[in-house]
Amino acid sequence: MTLRFYDFHPSLGDMRTEILQGLRQPQKAIAPKFLYDKTGAELFNAVCELPEYYLTRAEMAILQSRGEEIARLIGDGALVEFGSGSCQKVQILLDAQRRLNNGALSAYVSLDISKEHLLESCQKLAALYPELETDAICADYTQPLVWPEELARRRKVGFFPGSSIGNLEPQEALTFLADSRRLLGPEGGLLIGVDLQKSAAILEPAYADAQGISAAFALNLLRRLNRELGADFDLERFTYRAFYNPLGRIEMSLVSLREQTVRVAGEVVVFRAGESLLTEYSYKYSVDGFQALARKAGYQPKQVWLDEDRLFSVHYLQV
Ligand code: AVI
Repeated sequence: MTLRFYDFHPSLGDMRTEILQGLRQPQKAIAPKFLYDKTGAELFNAVCELPEYYLTRAEMAILQSRGEEIARLIGDGALVEFGSGSCQKVQILLDAQRRLNNGALSAYVSLDISKEHLLESCQKLAALYPELETDAICADYTQPLVWPEELARRRKVGFFPGSSIGNLEPQEALTFLADSRRLLGPEGGLLIGVDLQKSAAILEPAYADAQGISAAFALNLLRRLNRELGADFDLERFTYRAFYNPLGRIEMSLVSLREQTVRVAGEVVVFRAGESLLTEYSYKYSVDGFQALARKAGYQPKQVWLDEDRLFSVHYLQV
C-alpha cells in the first residue's frame, strides 16, 4: 500500500484575513470552503444522505450505470480528485476500472482542504485498494498548486464530482476550469458533475431540509469561527435561509435575528436585524450552458451523461 501525504494547507493567518475581508463587505460573505472543518465535512456527508438532497444519489446512479463507459473514455493516468471529501464516488470509478482492465488501477490523487477528513478517507481508501498508489494533498484547490515531483510527469485526469463547481460564481468557475486545464496538462481530461437547472419546488427543499441538517451545516461555520478565530457568535441569534434566485442559483445565508455586535479575531462586526451573512451560492446549469463555459476555458466537451430523472449531469471534458 502506498499512501503519500503532502500538506500545503493555508495558514490560519490567511483564513483570518479572508474572513475579516468578507465581513467588512456591504453584503457580508464567507467563502464556502470555510464550511468544511471536521464537523462541517461530517455534516455535509449527512446532507448528501437527505431524502431532499437528490444530487448525490443522481450522480452516483450515473457513475454506477455508466462506470465502464466512463472508465474507457478517461483512459489511464492518475485520477486527481478536487475536494474529495469521503472518496466515496471515486470508488465507483475505481471498481469500473478494475472490471475493465483485469484488476489494474490507475493512481489516485486526493486534494482536499480538510486535513483530518482527507487523511481518514485516504487511509480507508488505501486499505480497500491496497494496489492503488494514493497521494493525499491537503490544499485549497482554488489557489495555485505546484505538483510534487512524482506527479508532475504523469498523465492526469481530473475528477470534480458533486456539482462543487456550482459553489463558484460563473467567473470563478471559468477561472477554476482554465486553471484545472493547465494543472492537468495537455494529455489530460476532466470528469465533472454539474447539477441541472430545475424548479424552485425541487431545489429549495434540497437546501433547506425538514430535519435541519443544512441549517446545522451552515451554523457550524459560526462555531468554527468561535473556536479558531476567537469569535463570540451566539448561534441562537442567527437563522439559516436558502432560496432560489431565478438568476439560476440557490442562495444560502445566516440571517441575524436582531441587531447585534460580534467580535471576530479582535474586530467588532455589527449586524443589523435581518442582515444576512452569505455562506454559499449553488449555481445550476443547463447542459449547453455548462459546455459553453467549458469551451471558453479551453476544454473540449466529449460526452455528457444524465440520470433517469434528468436532474444531474456528468461531463467528460478533454484538455
Ligand atoms: C458542495 N456543494 C456542491 C453543495 C451544493 O449542493 O451546493 C454544498 C451544499 N450546501 C448546502 N447543501 C449542500
